[in-house]
Amino acid sequence: MNPSHKLAFLVVACSLAGLSGAADIKIGVAEALSGGAAQYGVAIRNGFQVAVEELNTKGGVNGNKIQLVIEDEQGKKEEAINVFKKLIFQDKVLMIFGPTLSNSMFAAGPVANAAKTVAFGTSNTANGITDMGPYLFRNSVMESDVLPVTVATAAKHYGIKKVAVIYGNDDAFTKSGYDVFKKVLEDQKIPVTTTETYVKGDVDFKAQLTKIKVTAPDAVVCSCLAEEAANIMLQARSLGIKAPFIGGNGFNSTKLFEISKLAGEGTFVGSPWANTNPAAVNKNFVAAYKQKYNAEPNQFSAQAYDALHIVAVALKGIKLSGNLDADRQAIRDALPAVSFTGVTGPFRFRQVKTRDGKAGGFDAEQKPFIYVVQGGKFTLYTGK
Ligand code: ALA
Repeated sequence: MNPSHKLAFLVVACSLAGLSGAADIKIGVAEALSGGAAQYGVAIRNGFQVAVEELNTKGGVNGNKIQLVIEDEQGKKEEAINVFKKLIFQDKVLMIFGPTLSNSMFAAGPVANAAKTVAFGTSNTANGITDMGPYLFRNSVMESDVLPVTVATAAKHYGIKKVAVIYGNDDAFTKSGYDVFKKVLEDQKIPVTTTETYVKGDVDFKAQLTKIKVTAPDAVVCSCLAEEAANIMLQARSLGIKAPFIGGNGFNSTKLFEISKLAGEGTFVGSPWANTNPAAVNKNFVAAYKQKYNAEPNQFSAQAYDALHIVAVALKGIKLSGNLDADRQAIRDALPAVSFTGVTGPFRFRQVKTRDGKAGGFDAEQKPFIYVVQGGKFTLYTGK
């Protein structure tokens, strides 16, 4: 074929592809790819990339390839709102994954909900969120489903009689985690010796830790994002606090060890993903991730990977019409019934009520695993 024939052939082939309806399915990914929350957002983006390559290599969904439109929401509320508006109104995506932090989802979720477009969080674990409207979904397991198990397991392991608490009081996730910890400690009859707070951007926690040290707790409960948690651990050890830490979902990042090194030994934390899950789906995911990124996946990558597969299952059951409003509604209506066993194990959605008592969005129904930090690594806790 000479070059001009080749060009003509390509034009015809492309327009035939268009006519046959084999258009890409555009899905927005709004994650924190820069700033402090990038420690989670990049792992999430990578998990999506592994999943989309796998799905598209197998031909996509019902003959349509999936195209991820990836945007950096910087871990900031205002940016999350801007990025959501761009994806919904300019890029005209079918639905959106993200944003990374609960703090940002509380701000941007209502934008998607008002535009009748699904916003699907894969890392938002604060209580609430899906009660803002019926277009809000997540497969990230809430603090209130994980922390009772984490605290009970740590308390039994260490024989904990009293704890000190520290949390960030100006972030939706760390504040919500604190509220849950407070209730769990009451329910499990574990007295709190002192409760200390900090705000975003703080790097010196010695004043709070000095107060904690005086109360001689058996453990320090910390509702913190990973970077702050790591600095708190380092400074606690330098002040001579030997008590182990108990954390929430914010701990589940390797950032914790990059900063704290071995200061976090003995920390207890929960997660819906068991890195040692021997199922083929998990082994394949871990191998594909390592090959692509030359790094280990974490629970944030695992949840993103599963989330795209959950959406692919929903997409398989619907016929996209090309009418964006109708297609957005179709994916919204297909998602709730999906039950799926991915790298994080068996998963299904649980519908919640909105704040005014109507049918709301959907939370994750999944059991957590408990990890203990050993040798600067998360090790699945086996009770020994
Ligand atoms: N789990 C954290 C949050 O919800 C990342 O903000």
